[in-house]
Amino acid sequence: MPAEPANLMEAIVSLAKRRGFIYPSSEIYGGLNGFFDYGPLGAELKKKIRDCWWNDMVRRRDDIVGLESSIIMHPDVWKASGHVAGFTDPLVDCKVSKQRYRADQLFFAPVVVAGKIIGYVSALESDNIAADLQTAAETLKRKKAVQGTLAPVQSRDMTEAKPEEIPLIPSPATGEPGSLTAPRAFNMMFQTNVGALSDASSVAYLRPETAQGMFVDFKNVVDTTRVKLPFGIAQIGKSFRNEITPRNFIFRSREFEQMEMEYFIHEDADWAKCHEEWIAWCEAWLRSIGLPDSHLSRHAHPKEKLAFYSKGTVDIMFKYPFGVQELWGIAARGNYDLTQHANASGKPQEMFDEATKKKFVPHVIEPAVGVDRIMLAVLCAGYAEEDVPDEKGNVEKRTVLRLSPRIAPVKVAVLPLIKNKEQLVGRAKDLYVKLKRKYAVNYDDGGAIGKRYRRQDEAGTPWCVTIDFETIEKPGDTFTLRERDSMKQRRITETELFALLEEQVY
Ligand code: GAP
Repeated sequence: MPAEPANLMEAIVSLAKRRGFIYPSSEIYGGLNGFFDYGPLGAELKKKIRDCWWNDMVRRRDDIVGLESSIIMHPDVWKASGHVAGFTDPLVDCKVSKQRYRADQLFFAPVVVAGKIIGYVSALESDNIAADLQTAAETLKRKKAVQGTLAPVQSRDMTEAKPEEIPLIPSPATGEPGSLTAPRAFNMMFQTNVGALSDASSVAYLRPETAQGMFVDFKNVVDTTRVKLPFGIAQIGKSFRNEITPRNFIFRSREFEQMEMEYFIHEDADWAKCHEEWIAWCEAWLRSIGLPDSHLSRHAHPKEKLAFYSKGTVDIMFKYPFGVQELWGIAARGNYDLTQHANASGKPQEMFDEATKKKFVPHVIEPAVGVDRIMLAVLCAGYAEEDVPDEKGNVEKRTVLRLSPRIAPVKVAVLPLIKNKEQLVGRAKDLYVKLKRKYAVNYDDGGAIGKRYRRQDEAGTPWCVTIDFETIEKPGDTFTLRERDSMKQRRITETELFALLEEQVY
């Protein structure tokens, strides 16, 4: 039976390091918080996720074209888009420890005993924030030796703290009140300077999203291709956000990769229907790369929390080990972005309606997802530790990554049963070279065959082919095909193997 270890995140971080999926960035210098490197298996897995998305989103559709815009754009882009003024998170500093917190992730509560406030407690966001604060309240009551009934704690986050409460709330770093500042807006864009001068005139930003590239190049695409509404522009690329508290491994980092698509529709089109169609498309796509329905859900943003221009946003949520969190946001953004850029640049961003003979600014539906978040989701959903019998019938533990063949970093491992039999090795190498032309393949001749299977299980390789004595001694030129998930073995010919790959890897 597949089993999740008690601490799934720890197990995944450990596997990711051990097998070369993910390393901390600049590790030999102590790492840099919020930045990661992707090792050989990780780079391949990310590439497969990107390729699947690009193939399904762009190449296999007639209504979507691709784009690669620059990471550093004219700074006015970010003024027009609203990022310079408003791309902020609320920040709280602890003046003593120099720790920084996102105000909406730092919770506090007054401790009320016999109807009187005897002090305040605080805790960082967790799955069990109410219980954490209640425990802290009980400790405070005991420490202050106050008699009477402790009321259940009523938690709020720091954005809701009244000015007179702030000096009374303890810092999570020191446990003492008096050192936390009031929340202030912290802009998350990374700044740089373009050119030889470092002054205000040369300030530029690393993009915090890829989306603005599609808006700024909207007219270029319309004028240089034959797109007709409705149509989309898609892009995959790095984005950068100076997150106050990067956390949960690669879930929230400071450098990450986005896959975004802007789907432009007529101003009179049924945006709600189009929005729903894109949500369903994204869900189906996540299923196609192996994420189970049981881990997926939807969260519709409440109307009062939407930006003024937004018609609706639905997030596809994933059940990560640290809680249910946003994976993919699908927003109906009206024509806000194109209108902003038209006003700021003085260049109209319109299309012509042949039927009404009128110009209009198209509206947009935007599915936006992070590659790194998908990668973490497939690792979490695919990881299992199982008790299985070894060759001698003894029970041993196997760690397996059940990755979909679509995205598995290695599709097939070619294993000669022994490495000192020329005929076996020759046939294995011949097959390996043929497979390599089309697929990511591994050749492994080191150690007992059972050990080699386990190595591939951990890497998420769906199939191993063993070239054995039957291959060279019996007619038919068949190999042993061993399936990762069932561990079942059967004989297969080269033609059948290529047919299997053709069907499952697309
Ligand atoms: N253009 C819209 C936009 O960027 P977003 O919700 O801020 O919307 C879209 O980002 C997606 O990018 C998120 O759903 C998430 O998958 C990913 N993402 C955002 N911030 C991230 C971060 N700090 N680290 C990793 N992925 C992130």
